[in-house]
Amino acid sequence: MANKQGPVCVSVINMKGGVGKTTVAASLALYATGARPFYSRNPRKVLAIDLDPQANLSQALMGGTAYRRLLEDKSPSIVEVFKEYQPPTSDKPSPTPLNIRDAVRSVRSGLDIIPSRFDFSDNLIDSIKPDPRVLARLIANNFQDKDLILIDCAPTESIFTQAAYHASRYILVPVKPEYFATIGFPLLNDSLTKFRDENQGHLIDVIGVVINNTTYQSSNDGGPESKRAKVEIHEEADKNGWHVFGHEIYYSRGFPKMMRGDFNNLRNAHLFTLFASEFFGRLFDGG
Ligand SMILES: Nc1ncnc2c1ncn2[C@@H]1O[C@H](COP(=O)(O)OP(=O)(O)O)[C@@H](O)[C@H]1O
Ligand SMILES: [Mg+2]
Repeated sequence: MANKQGPVCVSVINMKGGVGKTTVAASLALYATGARPFYSRNPRKVLAIDLDPQANLSQALMGGTAYRRLLEDKSPSIVEVFKEYQPPTSDKPSPTPLNIRDAVRSVRSGLDIIPSRFDFSDNLIDSIKPDPRVLARLIANNFQDKDLILIDCAPTESIFTQAAYHASRYILVPVKPEYFATIGFPLLNDSLTKFRDENQGHLIDVIGVVINNTTYQSSNDGGPESKRAKVEIHEEADKNGWHVFGHEIYYSRGFPKMMRGDFNNLRNAHLFTLFASEFFGRLFDGG
């Protein structure tokens, strides 16, 4: 795809855990690059960035074995990106400049990831106060050849949420249709309002809310609790002027399997594709 304007940066955020942020980020990254089982016909160049110390996105996209090797080898990760140097090692007895290419892992053709590490936030917040603009600068200086940058965030607001905002044009909000589904909406809205006030000239918007992990078939409405939750999701999104995507992501045991590296069981991949094409239509064509 011709890319004159540089990549579009999207952060996947919800201040609630377990709603599918990582699943949606991984699936969109795979879909966008034309990976199985989605087979998009318009493959794009994607950089995924894992900002969650749980490192679920890193494990899902790199695979458990490669991810364990990264930890064992103490290879550069998002930790060194925020530190902006590599600490002394047995080979190099002084801090050395970080070569960003060392922190970027190739997942498949067109898809790279900057992985996270379990000690990510402890390591940084306890020792030094990281600069929340590091990520934005990194993208500006190194990744203008990408079409899409997808940032997976932790559910708690921290300096890294701020880093994600600084790097992003859009926020995607996955939500699970359950009791208290929208508990994180006001937090996110307030936090974005504050960010906009403090960073005038930085355009940042919620591209939409996607309802994830609903029941398997669209013919099954998920029961009264799920129905009530969906009404509430629409009402609360409306209050903030947020779009709700028309296509939902259905429940499939294939998603947890995919996150463990088994890509052969996503039987309703075509249903995810409906949401994904709606998402990319809105993102790239404003439609
Ligand atoms: N559509 C879905 N169908 C089935 N399981 C899902 C779906 N979305 C998420 N899950 C599962 O729910 C759990 C939480 O999802 P995850 O993406 O890790 O959420 P978050 O990143 O918001 O904490 C994971 O075990 C994941 O595999
Ligand atoms: Mg997650």
